[in-house]
Amino acid sequence: MLEFTRRAFLAGGVAAAGASLSPGAARAGGRSYALTAAPARADLTGPGYPETPVWAYNGRVPGPEIRLRQGERLTVVVKNGLDEGTSVHWHGIRLPNAMDGVPYLTQDPIAPGETFRYEFTLPDAGTYWYHPHIWSDVQVGRGLSGPLIVEERAPIRVDRDLLWVLDDWRLQADASIRDDFGSPRDLSHNGRLGNTATVNGAIPKRFAVRAGERLRLRLVNVANARVFGLRFAGHAPQVVALDGQPVAPHAPEGGMVVLAPAQRADLVIDMEGKPGERFEVTDEYYRRQAYMLVAIVYSSDPPLRDSPLDAPIRLPANPLPEPDLAQAKRHEVVLEGGAMGGMKGAMMGGRHMGIRALAQAARFWAMNGVASATRPGPPILTLEKGRTHVLAMRNDTAWEHPMHLHGHSFRVIRRGSRPSPRREWLDTVLIAPRETVEVAFVADNPGDWMYHCHVLEHQIAGMMATVRVA
Ligand code: C2O
Ligand code: CU
Repeated sequence: MLEFTRRAFLAGGVAAAGASLSPGAARAGGRSYALTAAPARADLTGPGYPETPVWAYNGRVPGPEIRLRQGERLTVVVKNGLDEGTSVHWHGIRLPNAMDGVPYLTQDPIAPGETFRYEFTLPDAGTYWYHPHIWSDVQVGRGLSGPLIVEERAPIRVDRDLLWVLDDWRLQADASIRDDFGSPRDLSHNGRLGNTATVNGAIPKRFAVRAGERLRLRLVNVANARVFGLRFAGHAPQVVALDGQPVAPHAPEGGMVVLAPAQRADLVIDMEGKPGERFEVTDEYYRRQAYMLVAIVYSSDPPLRDSPLDAPIRLPANPLPEPDLAQAKRHEVVLEGGAMGGMKGAMMGGRHMGIRALAQAARFWAMNGVASATRPGPPILTLEKGRTHVLAMRNDTAWEHPMHLHGHSFRVIRRGSRPSPRREWLDTVLIAPRETVEVAFVADNPGDWMYHCHVLEHQIAGMMATVRVA
């Protein structure tokens, strides 16, 4: 498999430019799109390999780019061309509960052949994405996901605004997706790590740039389980947004842009190399498995300008309610289970089950002693609406968990014993083994919301819960 990976990387592929725009019907103050989820074929691996049978939106991997302006109204009519139920969740968007796309919680699954109309306003600018929220490990793992970009009313000045949708596939030698979804090992360890990384649906070969240009690079990690840790040799990217939300521009910690599953980062990069030069973007998150993701290749064109563009890169804040820590209500959330976790049992579907019975039901994880059943259960937390809440998430497992809450963004206020220096807004926060992370937010969006690990194998194997805001 590794051998295949290496060859696949060498085989090269499509240049990693921005994903193509889906021409939605523009109308005053909004845009409409039509998405059909159906089987398709994708050229992930490039010349020398067959196409990969995938599940895709409108026949493309990733799905079409949905792009609107902040404050506009989005309408998407989703048609299900699969043989099983589906839905679309708009990851990170603060929208009304009924539009959140969670089967059995906010809507019925969209049955094969049926359609569902999503319609909501986009309160926050930033980089978001969409994906199904049922049998997620399989549906997302087979290719169903796409980017959703909300432009600022007054964007920062850059020469090009680019998007890299990062994904990770477990391919066989004939480039087909290995059909071992839900294996107990993946469920109970690190999730379904693959062997082939793609950018915008293809193994990238070169990233063509021009000296002197300033790029805004939007990164989205749509992988089931892989954490990416990108280094841009010879360049000094500035992080300007995380999970769509602006952050004070800063160099990534240790020079590595870390993106857990579902996370996004917006970078501003000045292309300070010389015409004809070449650099590497490497993924070094798993140290012994570092590899080159793509080569940055400078054209021979003369530099666009002599010194970096002198224009502000700080993004305008989104209208998020500011948490009031003095009045906050604190809630503990304990994450348990997994291999080497020592969990003895958990509640599931209203009754207590021992570890063997849980494993037989393909459940390996729990939140506050509850392993999720197939359908969302009663809330593990009820949050008073309009009030500030702190979730103190304690990872009592041997594994990392990117924890995601629907319908809200939260400020990370503390990691372990240290206050968070940037107090960044996120919707998905990566929690290291044995670490406790505290996040704070105003629960201003009423409804029952999903709260889960975004390693999709952990999500389906118990690490998912309902939180009620009322
Ligand atoms: Cu990306 Cu429950 O979501
Ligand atoms: Cu997890």
